[in-house]
Amino acid sequence: MKYKIIEISPVSGALGAEVSGVDLSEPVTKKALTEIKSAWLEHQVLFFRDQTLTPDQHVAFTKNFGELQGPGYMPTLDGYPNVYVQEYPGLYGGIVSDVNWHIDASFMEKPLKGAVLYALDVPDVGGDTAWVNLYAAYESLSKPMQKLCASLTAIHDNFHKNLTAVLETYGAKGYEMARKATPPNEHPLVCKHPETGKKCLFYSELLISHFKELTAEENKILKEFLQQHIQKPELYCRFKWENNSIAFWDNRCTAHKGIFDFGQSHRLMHRVAIQGETVPSK
Ligand SMILES: [Fe+2]
Repeated sequence: MKYKIIEISPVSGALGAEVSGVDLSEPVTKKALTEIKSAWLEHQVLFFRDQTLTPDQHVAFTKNFGELQGPGYMPTLDGYPNVYVQEYPGLYGGIVSDVNWHIDASFMEKPLKGAVLYALDVPDVGGDTAWVNLYAAYESLSKPMQKLCASLTAIHDNFHKNLTAVLETYGAKGYEMARKATPPNEHPLVCKHPETGKKCLFYSELLISHFKELTAEENKILKEFLQQHIQKPELYCRFKWENNSIAFWDNRCTAHKGIFDFGQSHRLMHRVAIQGETVPSK
């Protein structure tokens, strides 16, 4: 038996596993942490149920995996600069397009390593989140398509699809500041995971404006193809939130999207993310 302390139940054939046998409000033992890290690398996104966490405990658990992301232009919890507040309806809903598939902050030189998302108040129905396995997204391409993708450089731009929302919420001055803080960056479309060494299709639909090497016409066609490709049901899992559920994903080999099917119902999540440690590379 690979895991002695935690129990693992995969949630789909693609990726994702529910973890039980651990209380994340307590300091996690070294042995349990080793198992969680290993399950995280293997399953790419881990889900925990019935965890009651204060913001301090949420921060403490996430710190086990690296340095935390500091405040940006998204709302954070008073007194907790690392706890991002994602609340619908509300300010957050007006400034992001996370209903598109994306790798969090893939526009950074070192995109986030991972994130721990905690549900405080979710609708009874709707508001699921889906994660796609970017290893499988690469592996399921034909060899010639893998070769083409491996030859491309993607430009990741925070304002590729968010520009209108940011301008409406913050105005031109706010946009200018945000533009300076988050300039576009380029990454290979096919990257090697720094820990597993496996290749993945580092495709962030929300943030990739274009591929440097292609013409406008070729970009349009390839982006349409990749968009269709990564949303194949056999490549993703879908998680139904309950209050006190947690999702902890590896942002280097997954993309995710929120499913906005809950109208005006209240949905409140806290997110603590782990800073990127490596520049994505081939
Ligand atoms: Fe996200």
